[in-house]
Amino acid sequence: MAKITEEMKEVIAKTRGFAVATATKDGDPHVVPVAFGKVLSEDEILLVEVFMKKTIENIKANPRVAVSVWDMESLKGYEFKGDARIETSGKVFDDSVKMVQSMMPQLNAKSAVIVKVDSIFVRSPGPDAGKQVR
Ligand SMILES: Cc1cc2nc3c(=O)[nH]c(=O)nc-3n(C[C@H](O)[C@H](O)[C@H](O)COP(=O)(O)O)c2cc1C
Repeated sequence: MAKITEEMKEVIAKTRGFAVATATKDGDPHVVPVAFGKVLSEDEILLVEVFMKKTIENIKANPRVAVSVWDMESLKGYEFKGDARIETSGKVFDDSVKMVQSMMPQLNAKSAVIVKVDSIFVRSPGPDAGKQVR
């Protein structure tokens, strides 16, 4: 487990979106923008599937996911890596449905994609750029 610190949570709260990278079993890369997301626990990030097709297909074949976030104001950024699981029922899924409905009632959440973070990297420009912090 890699703990998401308060400073990281602030960056996640201010990010303009989540850049969500997956890959096929053969390593063909895929990265998509995601707006519906949040910190779920000390070491989990929730991303909500509304339109994802290839991303879900990739996760089913290869659960490794990388998520990049950044705050344009402070110029702080982080990358979180881990294995993702997909939930289509239960509390997290129900909360995901509510999150989407409350912001864009015309859209429907299809699943909750939960990334269990096992490593974290600094993506801020500067001397620590690229450093693994967890
Ligand atoms: C600003 C922005 C925010 C988006 N937010 C979401 C999101 O929260 N959930 C989602 O499933 N798709 C979201 N999308 C759409 C996906 O990024 C896009 O449809 C992408 O192709 C995902 O599908 P794929 O995995 O099949 O490629 C968003 C797109 C943009 C441009």
